[in-house]
Amino acid sequence: MQSIHLKAPSNWINDPNGFIYYKGKYHLFYQHFPYAPRWGTMHWGHAVSEDLVNWEHKGIALFPSKYNDRNGCFSGSAIESEGKMYIYYTGVRYLEQDPEDIHLCLNDKFVSSQMMITSEDGEVFDNIKDKSTIIPPLEEPCIGCRTHTRDPKVWRGNDGRYYMVLGSRTPQNEGKLLFYRSDDMHSWEYVNSASKPELGWMWECPDYFEADGEKVLIFSPMSVLKDGKEYQNISLCALVDFNESDCEMKLPEEYQQLDYGQDLYAPQSTTDSEGRRVIVEWARMPEAVDGKWNGMFCIPRVVEVRNGHICFKVHPNIEAKFTREISSVYEASADGYRISVDIQDGESLDIGGYRIWRDGSKICTDRSKVFRNHNDIRTNFATPEIEGDIHLDIYVDKNLIEVYINDGEYVISNVVYDLDNYLISKTDSELKISTTV
Ligand code: FRU
Repeated sequence: MQSIHLKAPSNWINDPNGFIYYKGKYHLFYQHFPYAPRWGTMHWGHAVSEDLVNWEHKGIALFPSKYNDRNGCFSGSAIESEGKMYIYYTGVRYLEQDPEDIHLCLNDKFVSSQMMITSEDGEVFDNIKDKSTIIPPLEEPCIGCRTHTRDPKVWRGNDGRYYMVLGSRTPQNEGKLLFYRSDDMHSWEYVNSASKPELGWMWECPDYFEADGEKVLIFSPMSVLKDGKEYQNISLCALVDFNESDCEMKLPEEYQQLDYGQDLYAPQSTTDSEGRRVIVEWARMPEAVDGKWNGMFCIPRVVEVRNGHICFKVHPNIEAKFTREISSVYEASADGYRISVDIQDGESLDIGGYRIWRDGSKICTDRSKVFRNHNDIRTNFATPEIEGDIHLDIYVDKNLIEVYINDGEYVISNVVYDLDNYLISKTDSELKISTTV
């Protein structure tokens, strides 16, 4: 059992998958390579929680078992219908395998199929009997790419039919969304697409939902940041217009980052027991912790649209856990601690070498002292300009610090290593520090 930040039980995890509140429990699957703390042939790991706080690992749910997913079960989503759990995911088949490492493909030569598997109870997944291919590798490049089309997110439309969005790319190397529709959840018809030039060459992990009466698109374009650093793929969101009858999506000019720390990637959302829209994201880590595990998820965040701005606030179940006030961080539980503080221009905080400060109307962070020698990855971050007073709620865990600004108006999350549990610059009396019971 582990709490707050769901981490790899061992070896490797990347994207959250199949996130769903199903029969009274949260199920969070994830991209998993079970043999080493690095990316490789993808399986789906599985964790279950009653409250989004305490997670129980359930082992491997999906593994390669069919011709079309023989080299990996890539990302996808889950939905319930008549008590059954339906999982949609991308099956990958290599056309050229690395003879020195069969878990990798050579020269980008692979094809992608969209596949499904059903489960009666969300516990047992029969990878032989209950899997099928619903969309074989695409034949028409004008629709989408045979190789880079993946990550089905399925939802029930307002008209009661089922909709799927896939990430893809155009022959001109532009990112593209494909929309499919189904009446029976098994047979899917291509309906429409949406794309935009100069926003990466392929769009991963799209998600679409309504929140606070607005329509929200989340996607993860590849190679949008071009500063020569690692992690050029980042996750973006925007308010969009989407018309169910013809699956026409109007994409805007401006996008927000979900998180200005640029470590989090491939978010996925679901609705919680109260109907709130909740997302989790994968925190990319440049090296395994203790050489054993690599990859974790951020705190589940509630998506809220305030005056046209998309906010990501700490889920109330997690907030409610940090009730034990402490006077020193040394009294913190293994879950870490939360610091709540109002911050004025010029003020700063140092959390064991990780720096947070306010520069005019922006919040900035610097992790250069607690990131070992990963010089190829960014260490300094800043929010856009913020209007008015600034309040911070900072959740500190050994390897992930999440800085929530004005209740999720902006968030900066950063992966760190070797934190020294020590606070300077602001005296403890000005800070409210709390931890879990
Ligand atoms: C995003 C991603 C997805 C893909 C999966 C493979 O991180 O590349 O597009 O399905 O990871 O592990």
